[in-house]
Amino acid sequence: MPTRPLRIAPSILSADFARLGDEVKAIVDAGADYIHVDVMDGHFVPNISFGAPVMQSVRGVTDKIFDVHLMIAPVDPYLADFANAGADIITVHAEAGPHLHRSLQAIRAMGKKAGVALNPATPVAAIQHVIDDCDLVLVMSVNPGFGGQSFIPESLNKISQARALIGGRAIDLEVDGGVSAENARAIVAAGANVLVAGSAIYAGNDAATYAGRIKAIRDAATGLLV
Ligand code: DX5
Ligand code: ZN
Repeated sequence: MPTRPLRIAPSILSADFARLGDEVKAIVDAGADYIHVDVMDGHFVPNISFGAPVMQSVRGVTDKIFDVHLMIAPVDPYLADFANAGADIITVHAEAGPHLHRSLQAIRAMGKKAGVALNPATPVAAIQHVIDDCDLVLVMSVNPGFGGQSFIPESLNKISQARALIGGRAIDLEVDGGVSAENARAIVAAGANVLVAGSAIYAGNDAATYAGRIKAIRDAATGLLV
């Protein structure tokens, strides 16, 4: 079980981009803990989302943690852009380049929290030797690139392995992809403490629904809903 506080991190990938500032404010008002920012380059993943200038344009609407998930390769040349645009946590993929240790060091050197993400086929052992350079481990429970995909059940085994590797370290264990009130309990039971949810919160883009959806995930994760 997690030793860190539960955090719900709505992904703005599923927000209405025409109203992005309002959509960020709406999930903050609805109880979001982190703002999950999915950056895609059409190269590392088969989709393009947005970059640092778009993120910076909404940074001012809240002082909540901006949890930036970089699905881009190469990643090192862009780390400073996201740090300067107001990221709090910057997560790079273990598969994004040959020098993961260097990327994590660079993020911390800019005063930001350093995260590392693992695609579904990447073993937890890939980060064994950099675990003390991480502030967050992100287990991808879908193949990154798109919102609205189904949770890959094997991810639960991987979350348990990542939890074992983290042990008592002050590292967030985040899960991203297909998270909902239906599977939140199992995900947290396996050891995660940060739940990313895009479509499960933003589907329909009606701000009136966000608080109830965030609460449903939080209640499920904490065992209040079974
Ligand atoms: C997937 C992204 C996710 C995505 C999650 O590549 O990293 O953050 O937005 O969306 P859902 O919750 O709809 O699977
Ligand atoms: Zn993500």
